[in-house]
Amino acid sequence: MRHPVVMGNWKLNGSKEMVSGLIKGLDAALNGVEGVDVAIAPPVMFLDLAQQLLSKADSKIILGAQNVDLHNSGAFTGDISPEMLKEFGASHIIIGHSERREYHHESDAFVAEKFAFLKENGLTPVLCIGESEAQNEAGETVAVCARQLDAVINTQGVEALNGAIIAYEPIWAIGTGKAATADDAQRIHAAIRAHIAAKSEDVAKNVVIQYGGSVKPENAAAYFAQPDIDGALVGGAALDAESFAAIAKAA
Ligand code: G3P
Repeated sequence: MRHPVVMGNWKLNGSKEMVSGLIKGLDAALNGVEGVDVAIAPPVMFLDLAQQLLSKADSKIILGAQNVDLHNSGAFTGDISPEMLKEFGASHIIIGHSERREYHHESDAFVAEKFAFLKENGLTPVLCIGESEAQNEAGETVAVCARQLDAVINTQGVEALNGAIIAYEPIWAIGTGKAATADDAQRIHAAIRAHIAAKSEDVAKNVVIQYGGSVKPENAAAYFAQPDIDGALVGGAALDAESFAAIAKAA
């Protein structure tokens, strides 16, 4: 049985004051919520503070991060390793986000290497995939998602997806308020699952596939009612404790 995961991607937002307020607010708002794993990925600068606050509150909120490097140490200026993330309690690590693919030119193969390195280090990859508006209009959505997934499957085997999370985020829906309809998202999620099932029915049945892109308290329940949508990766709405908690409760 798949367990829904709702994760907040805070992107490049926050200050010590904001992180403290948001974590305290979230922990209170999520009190008693069952049946969903809730995770947050603050900027790495705030992982220490977040870890301290979560442990003080004995919180069930899972800590994550937004990126990782391909090495655990060495001459790699500016990078952050899996070992470092682990030391600060981060377990769920977002990779392949469209913003990193676009602004940092991260290729499918590079993202797949990060996927392997996270697994090797005992961390949970949250692998983002999704098409641009032009690709969507050209009817290439499923092919693009399959290609991004195949970068992992063809190098590491389909079983590598066991225990990982896939986040389907259509790029045109990110931060635009132009969310995919629940029916359209379900259709793509089912196609992604079928693509995996062609290699292993078992892996396909168990892998968590989140939807991301303008998820709000108002539309969350419609997504979570779909059989192949197992939670959400949330951007803007994750910066408000009440909104994020409402989305988690809908799961
Ligand atoms: O990773 C989450 C994200 O890209 C979606 O952002 O603001 O549309 O919820 P947003």
